[in-house]
Amino acid sequence: MTVPTPITHDLKPDLSYVEAAGRAVFEAIPKGSNTIVVLESTVYPGVTAQTWLPIVEELGLVIGEDVEIAYCPERFNPGDAAHGVRQVARVIGCSNPDVGKALVALYQKLTTEDVRYVGKLEVAEAAKVIENVQRDINIALVNELARIFPALDVDVEDVLSAAATKWNFHRYTPGVGVGGHCIPVDPYYMIQRAADVGVPAGLITAARAVNRSMPSHVAGVLTDIMWNAKVSADDARVLLLGWSYKAEVGDPRETPAEPLAETLMAKGITVGAWDPHLDIKSFPDGVESVTDLSTAQDYDMVVLVTAHKACLELDWEALLAHMRTPLLYDGRRVLDLESLKAMGWKTHAVGRPLDS
Ligand SMILES: NC(=O)c1ccc[n+]([C@@H]2O[C@H](COP(=O)([O-])OP(=O)(O)OC[C@H]3O[C@@H](n4cnc5c(N)ncnc54)[C@H](O)[C@@H]3O)[C@@H](O)[C@H]2O)c1
Repeated sequence: MTVPTPITHDLKPDLSYVEAAGRAVFEAIPKGSNTIVVLESTVYPGVTAQTWLPIVEELGLVIGEDVEIAYCPERFNPGDAAHGVRQVARVIGCSNPDVGKALVALYQKLTTEDVRYVGKLEVAEAAKVIENVQRDINIALVNELARIFPALDVDVEDVLSAAATKWNFHRYTPGVGVGGHCIPVDPYYMIQRAADVGVPAGLITAARAVNRSMPSHVAGVLTDIMWNAKVSADDARVLLLGWSYKAEVGDPRETPAEPLAETLMAKGITVGAWDPHLDIKSFPDGVESVTDLSTAQDYDMVVLVTAHKACLELDWEALLAHMRTPLLYDGRRVLDLESLKAMGWKTHAVGRPLDS
């Protein structure tokens, strides 16, 4: 069962799908069948048992006779063919080791990678959520550095390149924000669980705050660049290249493009967006949808939001010819800014000092 595990508007885990789908499945299980039900949704440690065992009990089902419950997190990486469903290692949690071993044999048919029984449900549940927490923290560190170093007149990418010459330095790339329905969501599950048991989760909470505030931070930098370039505050126009949360994926869920656009629009700036991977209905009200880049006219600034190949390889000369002001901001540190500068663009980037 791989149903959604989103967060509510007040950043709390929403387990209603796990509960509703679980109920529907348990109601259909014949007595005496000892059917194994596996949850694959991303959850915090304890969810599978806490959500499903009361339903099992209420329906009069008996664990070990009518039903078994297990957890095996989905780990595939959207847009990454090398880490699709059939290429990722799996971990299985279950209070019954025999069921765990039977599931290992089953999942070995699904993936070419390692499949392992790791013990009780909570171990597998926790493993999945901390994978995403770790990624959020690593990205938050580099995003925080991308705010500090420009203030010291240093480009964060130069620092990262230097640091990465050491064998044990792990390099991450700063950006306009973290999107999708996993990394910006799952840490709240861990934060909630830690709060439930009265243990602080300060680091996880701080990382979330840094990544969540990146779009508004970048919006502030963009306006500084525009006002420095004498763009009229009454009539400024910004074009976002890419709207998906991730390169080569047509998925706008939790995309940082949305808070970035909203912050700019709240300052009275007109925002347009182009994303060849998405339908124009993906853009919220107020955002000008650009379907054909050759028709994009009179923008003052272009912002690379998503590193889609189509965004990197577009006709930059043609786009430049239609700009009112030739400002360019690389929000993913993926563009060859030197050659774009030579072409005539006034280039800027996340983590780079404004006047470099
Ligand atoms: N998509 C990914 O890349 C990915 C990767 C790793 C983990 N996950 C995790 O997998 C889970 C699902 O994510 P997703 O992207 O597949 O979500 P999704 O919204 O794309 O799909 C969920 C599916 O659940 C179905 N569903 C919802 N309620 C149901 C119910 N009561 N009964 C039966 N079916 C029901 C929906 O119809 C839909 O087909 C989440 O916990 C997510 O964190 C997803």
